[in-house]
Parts: sequence; structure tokens; C-alpha cells
Amino acid sequence: MEEAFILLLIVGCIVLGLKVRKEDAERARRILAREGLGDTTKAIVEREGCVLFPVAISLSEDLLQNVRGETIEWDFPDKISREDPIEGIRRVAKLPDNLKLHVPEKWERFGDVLVVRLPHELDAHESAVAEAYAEILGVKSVLRDTGGVTGEFRTPVVRTLLGSDTVTVHRENGVLFKFDAAKIMFCSGNTDERVRASKITCDDELIVDMFAGIGYFSVPIAVYQKPRRVIACELNPEAYRYLVENIELNSVGGTVEPVLRDNRDLEGESIADRVFMGYVKTTHEYLRTAIRLVRDGGVIYYHETCPCELLPDRPIERLESAAGEGGFELLSLRQVKSYSPGVSHVVAEAKILKGG
Ligand SMILES: C[S@@+](CC[C@H](N)C(=O)[O-])C[C@H]1O[C@@H](n2cnc3c(N)ncnc32)[C@H](O)[C@@H]1O
Repeated sequence: MEEAFILLLIVGCIVLGLKVRKEDAERARRILAREGLGDTTKAIVEREGCVLFPVAISLSEDLLQNVRGETIEWDFPDKISREDPIEGIRRVAKLPDNLKLHVPEKWERFGDVLVVRLPHELDAHESAVAEAYAEILGVKSVLRDTGGVTGEFRTPVVRTLLGSDTVTVHRENGVLFKFDAAKIMFCSGNTDERVRASKITCDDELIVDMFAGIGYFSVPIAVYQKPRRVIACELNPEAYRYLVENIELNSVGGTVEPVLRDNRDLEGESIADRVFMGYVKTTHEYLRTAIRLVRDGGVIYYHETCPCELLPDRPIERLESAAGEGGFELLSLRQVKSYSPGVSHVVAEAKILKGG
């Protein structure tokens, strides 16, 4: 019984192949690719001056003559590692063939947790799809993004399709971010902005990060620059918990001070050299707090999600109305990303002038 099982396994790995001399190999490779005859799940093998190609179907005599080769049977090794992951995912997914093309070729990977948006065609097969992603990409959990991010805390709306542990450690720009991907957002569209923040020279400065989250800006700034102090303010206790952990994980406890509070309750006036306002939708409601906190000549990074037809006026007008008499100097106004059709996520870098 055991012997029969082993035999079955071995036979299961044998596939049809084409054997050609090395000097004919490049031509044979091109013909197999052109005709779509190769078995792309298996690796090509070199042996004793010959090249062995795995093929998906038996080859005609004409073709064999053309490439001066012969048909063989061979135990070709799997080629999973060289395969485009989406091909692997579609290959292993236990789905009717007509649905395989609906399996998305885009996903978000945070450490060992995957977040994917699935079209409704796959509703009845979501577990099978999740299993395929997990198998090919080697993740422990797969979440289905069902509603983007929502509410004051920017909470992701997701459903767990596979796995039970959704806490992960994601590395970006050499910084470790630990968080629960089922409860906390991580916007890969903001990566450039986080990297940019980590490159702002701010030696000995006091920074206030008004919407610190899990440390998206505060931690990279402290890792790469030498600020005197970063006050990282976060209102959501769940995000705050990971903010505290990420400060430890990245050894920036001497610089970043986590504060669990509504940023409008932060005390002080003209204390900060720079204020980060990494928030969208209602950020303008917090401009007066930012301007209270920043010193004369200090800089605020004001984010806004703005309909394209209102650019560049609306963010500038909002800054003007919050800055008051002293005014401000606009250092730059950049797009962070496209937020939704016709809406842009922009960041205004403004030097605040308080006069006096
Ligand atoms: C999710 S982050 C924004 C993402 C970030 N800028 C990035 O790099 O992708 C925004 C954070 O602000 C927090 N927040 C919202 N209102 C707040 C307030 N009034 N005071 C402090 N934190 C607040 C939310 O809980 C959330 O964690």
C-alpha cells in the first residue's frame, strides 16, 4: 500500500518533455513559446549537453524534426518561484475556469497579511480565492476589502476570508509598522509622502504630528532625522496601542512622545517648528489648532482631499482664513495621490507668519 502510494507520487511528477541539443535550444524555446506548447508551471532542465523543455501536449513529428528533438518523459521540477504570482494564483484557485480571469491581479500586502478587493463574480468562491492567494503568496491571513476606510478613525471595512491572526509587522522604507490590518488602515498610496517626511531635515526641532495613527510620519522622522522631540497625537486607543509598540520596535522612544488625545486639546501656543496634518476630508477643521501650535516661521503640512476643479484655490483659501492677519507663505502644493474620480489628495506646505 505504502509502495503504491510512493509510486503514484512519482508518476504524478512525470511530465512530457522535449529533448534537444544545447545548440538547438534557443530555437526550440522560441518555437514552443510562439506555439504556446510549453508547460509554464515546470522548470527547464539542462543535462549532459542537452536541454529538456517541459511541454503541455504531445508534439507533432513535424515539430520534432524542425527542432531536431525527441519526446521524453521527465520529472521536471516546479517553476512556481519564477512564475508571475497572479498566474500561480489563478492556476491553483479551485474555481470554474471562466471565473479565473476575475481573480484580481492587484492586492495589498502588509507583512504576512493580504488585503484584496474581489469583484462580485467571485462572491460564491471567496474562500477558494483566498486559499489560492495564501498558497502562492505565503500569507497567514487574507482580508476582503468591502468598503474602503470609514469614519473619524479611518477604519478599514474588511472581512476575514482566511486565517485568524490579522496582526502584522509591515516594513516600509526600513521602518517597522505593527498593526492589526483588520482594524487599522495602512494607505500604500501615501508611501511617497511618508518617505518624503523622513527626508525633511529637522535637527533639534519640535514636531507635532496631529494625526499620528500608528506612527506613519512620527516614526520615520525620528528614525531618519534628529528632531529634539516629536509629539505624536492619536485619538483612537487601538491605533495608539500600536503607536506605542512601533516607537519601541523602532527604538525611537527617546524622541517620540505618544499622546492619546483629541489633538484640539493639545496644550501650548507657538511651540512647534513643524506640524503634520496627515488626515483627509475634514482636515481644515483642525487648521486653527495647527496654527496655534506652530511658531512664527514654522511650517505646517496641511492635507486636503479636494475636487480637482477647486484646485489650487480651495486649500489656499482655507489656509488664508485660518492663518489670520500674519498670513503664510505657500512653499509648495503637491498632489499626494488621486483620492477618487475627480478628487485629489493634496498637501500644502505653508510657512506660517504670525507677525509681531
Ligand atoms: C489613519 S491616519 C492617516 C494616514 C496617514 N497620514 C498615512 O500616512 O497614511 C489618521 C489618524 O488620525 C486619527 N485622528 C482622527 N481625528 C483625530 C483627532 N481629533 N485627534 C487625534 N487623532 C485623530 C485617526 O484615528 C487616525 O488614526
